[in-house]
Order: sequence, then C-alpha cells, then structure tokens
Amino acid sequence: MSPVICSIRREVDVYVAIGRGRELANALGFNTIDRTRIEIVILELTRNLLVHANGGELRFEKIERQGRQGIAIEAVDTGPGIADIALALSDGYSTAHTLGAGLPGVKRLMDEFSIESTVSVGTRVRAIKWVPQRREVKP
Ligand SMILES: Nc1ncnc2c1ncn2[C@@H]1O[C@H](COP(=O)(O)OP(=O)(O)O)[C@@H](O)[C@H]1O
Ligand SMILES: [Mg+2]
Repeated sequence: MSPVICSIRREVDVYVAIGRGRELANALGFNTIDRTRIEIVILELTRNLLVHANGGELRFEKIERQGRQGIAIEAVDTGPGIADIALALSDGYSTAHTLGAGLPGVKRLMDEFSIESTVSVGTRVRAIKWVPQRREVKP
C-alpha cells in the first residue's frame, strides 16, 4: 500500500486525518483501545504541525516486519525545527504555554518513536504501532 498523505493546513484537516487514520487502523484489525491511541497520536501530531510549524503533512502507511503488520504515522514539516529534542520530549515542556503533554504522550502510546529535527529546516516525527499477534494455539 502506498502511504496516505494528508496536508495539514487548517483545523478541519486534523479531523480528516483522524478519520483516515481510523479507517486504516480498522482495516489492520487494531482493537478499540489501540484505535483510540492511534487517534490521539494523530490529533497530537497534527496539532503540533498547526501550532508549532505553520502546517505540514501527516502520512500513514501500513508496514510489515518479520510477519507482523503495523501502522507507521509520520508528521513532516518545514517549520522552525526543535533545538533540544530531549527537552521537547519531557513532560510539561511547551514553548506555546500549552500542556506539553503531546510528544511525550505520543511516545508512550506507540511502540516505536523517533524525531529528526533541524533548526530552521524542519521536523519529522515517526511513530509505529504493531498489531498485537494472536497467541499460537498448540495442537
Ligand atoms: N512540529 C514541530 N515543530 C517545531 N517544534 C515542535 C514541533 N512539535 C513540537 N515542537 C516543540 O516541542 C514542544 C513540546 O511539544 P508537545 O509535547 O506537543 O507540547 P505542546 O504542543 O503542548 O507545546 C512544543 O512546545 C514545541 O516547542
Ligand atoms: Mg503538542
């Protein structure tokens, strides 16, 4: 499957992206709790695109590794970048006087998480959630 790309310019784009992500999460067979986690992650990453980077792109992709399926969610922008990534990932840190719970929350909710950012160039946040594997039933 080729990635789904959502341009995030306005508030309404956040809700469109959440809907698209929900469709993919459903199709992959995530349970209700994981689907909610995925929706929260899309909300936080798209809000960050709007608030901190003046917009950007949200991409979702179905991925496979060693027979496991998952969803990769990537937020990409050409905004101001993040000077201190460790600080941005700490609970309560915000340059916008908001909760500062977005990035640390995303990291906790997903299985894999990475940020690449260069000041004055932009930011890429990538997060992966794997579909839980069914336990093998031994004969
Ligand atoms: N896409 C981004 N571009 C530039 N800075 C960002 C981006 N996303 C997050 N940040 C920085 O990381 C900080 C922490 O983000 P987050 O945990 O989502 O908290 P909040 O959005 O409430 O400030 C932000 O205040 C901002 O300084
Ligand atoms: Mg945020």
